[in-house]
Amino acid sequence: MPVAAVIGAQWGDEGKGKIVDMLAEKARYVVRFSGGDNAGHTVVNPLGEFKLRLTPSGIFYPSTISIIGNGVVLNPAVLLSEIEELNSRKVDTSRLYISDRAHLIMPYHIVIDGIEEDSLGDKAIGTTRKGIGPAYVDKVARTGIRAGDLLDKEVLRERLTPALEHKNKIITKVFGKKALSFDEIYSQYCEYADRLSPLICDTTVMLAAALDRNESILLEGAQGVLLDPDFGTYPYGTSSSPMAGNACLGSGLGPNQINHFLGVFKAFQTRVGAGPMPTELKDEIGDAIREYGQEYGTVTRRPRRCGWFDAVAARLSKRVNGFTSVAITRLDVLDKLARIKICTGYKVNGETIENFPASSAILEKCQPVYEELPGWEKPTGNIRIYKELPPKAQRYVKRLEEIIGCPSSLISVGKRREQTIVRKSIF
Ligand code: GDP
Ligand code: IMO
Ligand code: MG
Repeated sequence: MPVAAVIGAQWGDEGKGKIVDMLAEKARYVVRFSGGDNAGHTVVNPLGEFKLRLTPSGIFYPSTISIIGNGVVLNPAVLLSEIEELNSRKVDTSRLYISDRAHLIMPYHIVIDGIEEDSLGDKAIGTTRKGIGPAYVDKVARTGIRAGDLLDKEVLRERLTPALEHKNKIITKVFGKKALSFDEIYSQYCEYADRLSPLICDTTVMLAAALDRNESILLEGAQGVLLDPDFGTYPYGTSSSPMAGNACLGSGLGPNQINHFLGVFKAFQTRVGAGPMPTELKDEIGDAIREYGQEYGTVTRRPRRCGWFDAVAARLSKRVNGFTSVAITRLDVLDKLARIKICTGYKVNGETIENFPASSAILEKCQPVYEELPGWEKPTGNIRIYKELPPKAQRYVKRLEEIIGCPSSLISVGKRREQTIVRKSIF
């Protein structure tokens, strides 16, 4: 029963897209299980460079079936334009399916996301403004509209009528903005329904049949653990769970049906959006990492905040996800540095702590405690065998493994599919 989940282990953008594209060669199914088009997963393979927002990163293999799982919030307009772009670049999307239980992002979610961010002023979360948070709010408030509702336009009308009435009250009476038109939204979503209906089905039935046939399944996470509503830097995070546990809930598999949890860590730390980041480097080293690594948001193009690897955060990530192995990505980005630091603890209120605090207010005050290792100062992008890495690079990887408490199965040394050192195969 080869089922593996790929989990972002930091603040997102760890290179999940690259790792999923590479592993998907041996997967029959690839299932996105959380987030929405706040995600930007970059894939570089012989077909070109792609920045996927909703489509699972296994779409490039002719024998792989791609599923947008129930845990995703789906903006139909974004998916349709992504499909069009993929098709125009000769990528076949005919094996893409959408869970009938996935919630839809509606125009009012996007409007409310923007209004709420603006009203927070300098306390804004720095969301992607794609309506992600408001769509998940409606899911738990039981006022959401699901992909399956597109299959019957009368049901769609019945769901949209009270939802929009309520949202328009908030938009006009609380925020003093212009109401949205029912007719416009309804006719737009009817059009989406005509185009997407053939893709919408009960994807749990497909996955159960795949398990019966012992076919391999890859579960693709979005975002990262430090953005999780429970374990991340609350409230500076996202609204769905990027965690290993949600790989089950967001796809419809049981916990005992997944046998590998791969945590993806960058060899350093980045973050987009607001919120505490104890190892952030606001100096020329941070700028150098950003420039070598081209650390700019895939979705919003915002410059990513860069810093040293945070082992305090990494240990939390390992602890609350139970990773069976880790992938260390972007090792090559550190190739030119003479000295490299790892944060092993935080100093706060005169004490040294080794566990990641729950409170963002405390985290803001934490000063990193570093250990320093020598850099290898040699290019690693062409290396495919672990033992051929410069000894100082091996030492850095070994130290990360020790400090995270988990062996590495993959080491990524470049953005292309083949720029990967496989230490232990996942499938
Ligand atoms: P994701 O959201 O986790 O899929 O990550 P993103 O695609 O948003 O950001 C990761 C960036 O790093 C992308 O530009 C990738 O092409 C790139 N990338 C992935 N792995 C490596 C690597 O090992 N080395 C380098 N230099 N770039 C990488
Ligand atoms: P991938 O899958 C990095 C961040 C946003 C913001 C916060 C909340 O590419 O790793 P949201 O729009 O989700 O309500 O924004 O979460 N964020 C991400 N940061 N990578 C992502 O996805 C992200 N998705 C959301 O920047 O700080
Ligand atoms: Mg990304």
